Amino acid sequence: MTKIREIYKCDICGNIVEVLHAGVGELVCCGEPMELMKGKIEDSTTEKHVPYIEKTANGVNVKVGQNEDHPMIDKHYIEWIQIIADGASYRKFLKPGDKPQAEFNIKADNIEAREYCNIHGLWKS
Ligand SMILES: [Fe+2]
Repeated sequence: MTKIREIYKCDICGNIVEVLHAGVGELVCCGEPMELMKGKIEDSTTEKHVPYIEKTANGVNVKVGQNEDHPMIDKHYIEWIQIIADGASYRKFLKPGDKPQAEFNIKADNIEAREYCNIHGLWKS
């Protein structure tokens, strides 16, 4: 049984999917059940991953790494940043060389953020 917005990863091929409509079936990839990614909220690594939301004139800016930017090199980078704002979902995909941040021109009362690091996995605010 899945839940809407859950994120699952295949440990064999690296496929990552988000549930857009929940169902009773188990998600399977490469012949194995996919792993539910819960989203970590506390960081024990040297670089910081928990997404940090700051308000801007146009909406919000989500940063990964408060004092020092998370690395954005080919081998290690933030693949995407997502916000869920009053129930609506917005995502920006990043690539190596980009800043580890994303601005969303969204005004909302309730904003959660999550981001995916290609090495350290899923993190949420
Ligand atoms: Fe990382």
